[in-house]
Amino acid sequence: MAKSTAKALGANGCRISFLDTQREYLTNVGAHGLSDFYLKKAPLDARKSIPEVLDGEVVYIADAIKDERIQHPQIAKAQRISSILAAPIMAKGEVIGEIRLYTHDPHIFSEDDKNFVVIVANISAVLVERDELHRLLESGHKGVKEQSKLAQLPTISLRPAEFAHPSEEEFVRLLDFYQIEWLYEPRAFPLRWENGGIVEMFTPDFYLPEFDFYIELTTLRQDLVTEKNRKVRRLKELYPEISIKLLNKNDFLRLLAKYGYGSLGEAKLQGIDRILLTHSQIQRRVKALARRISGDYEGKHLVLVGVLKGVIFFMTDLMEHLTLPVTVDFMAISYYGGEEDPVVKITKDLDSSITGRDVLMVEDIVDTGMTLNYILKYLQAHAPASLRVCTLLDKRARRLVDVPLDYVGFEIPDEFMVGYGLDYDGEYRNLRFIGTFHPELAGKDESQK
Ligand code: IMP
Ligand code: MG
Repeated sequence: MAKSTAKALGANGCRISFLDTQREYLTNVGAHGLSDFYLKKAPLDARKSIPEVLDGEVVYIADAIKDERIQHPQIAKAQRISSILAAPIMAKGEVIGEIRLYTHDPHIFSEDDKNFVVIVANISAVLVERDELHRLLESGHKGVKEQSKLAQLPTISLRPAEFAHPSEEEFVRLLDFYQIEWLYEPRAFPLRWENGGIVEMFTPDFYLPEFDFYIELTTLRQDLVTEKNRKVRRLKELYPEISIKLLNKNDFLRLLAKYGYGSLGEAKLQGIDRILLTHSQIQRRVKALARRISGDYEGKHLVLVGVLKGVIFFMTDLMEHLTLPVTVDFMAISYYGGEEDPVVKITKDLDSSITGRDVLMVEDIVDTGMTLNYILKYLQAHAPASLRVCTLLDKRARRLVDVPLDYVGFEIPDEFMVGYGLDYDGEYRNLRFIGTFHPELAGKDESQK
């Protein structure tokens, strides 16, 4: 598809990419006419690289090197990229990816060309909706084991199947532990050229998007350290806008302390298989939800209703970012009867009447939907003026009762989650991130619960 599209429009290169489930990075699914180096350059941060496309616009860039919408102009220059045409891939009214065309010489794309690209984008969207690509993309988020299936594709791997060195793996555990986003070897920097060809490159071990710096891990071998120092110096000379740090584990812990990350203690990680959502991903999404809700309820007074205790983190963060006058109320429930046929009982009722009020039910997670269904019926019986639902997590695959969800933070896979308010047997609520939990990894026996 990339090849035919490039040919049809007289372009030298074409790249088709999709947003990851957190809607932050563009992952390649197909490309033509672009070098491996270009595809392996720093990951395309969707909000920084031609962000207008994310709003559904078709964008034409006449001169990539001079245009501020281009995230890495020096690379575009080295790759001889002049003009770019970028179009959103839309599904169900949302942007899910992008298609971009590149030319070596300055090129003017006509209205017909733009329409053509939009059609190609639509066809890609249909393909995704018809699930082939969808499954492929999803498998990229199921952790290290299944990632290897994607190896043949020119994707930027967020989680490599293997690390070059055990110290890197340890470092990743540390980063995950502190909920810091990272990318492994995302970009190769040319350091030396001869006869117009690159003869030396340097690929730093990690990039931390939150802090916008690269990290090269140091080892104990002095000969390697000297060589790395030389490369880092050279990189700083050639790419003064890049920030890179040469670190060992202790340096890094000191750096974290400086950035205000406390030490949590190793015990907290036991049982957690992987971090599904980092604290900063959650924060960004919560802010976006709060913005939408504030807009939808403009001029109104909102009553937020939460069910204890899982919702505590989400409720406080959401409230903080709402720009409306709000009041908040909580209920508590308990389940009795068997696992098979649980019955819900209210153990703490609302403090104030909701009759005639605009009510937003705030939930941490909707799983089978039984709890929410019960509570919505209960609230509805008190005749609120309006009643809507906002949930941070939607475990849709497990739904038994069809409940309407008006605001959803993240759709998540069918796995057990802990952290950010969610518990396993009362514990783990105080983690700042959301991770997938396996009791057997924590040495906990399910039958003792
Ligand atoms: P539902 O009635 O099946 O939708 O269950 C909803 C409730 O089950 C939530 O409010 C949580 O308290 C709990 N729950 C469901 N899935 C998870 C999970 O993955 N981690 C922690 N609690 C969960
Ligand atoms: Mg709950």
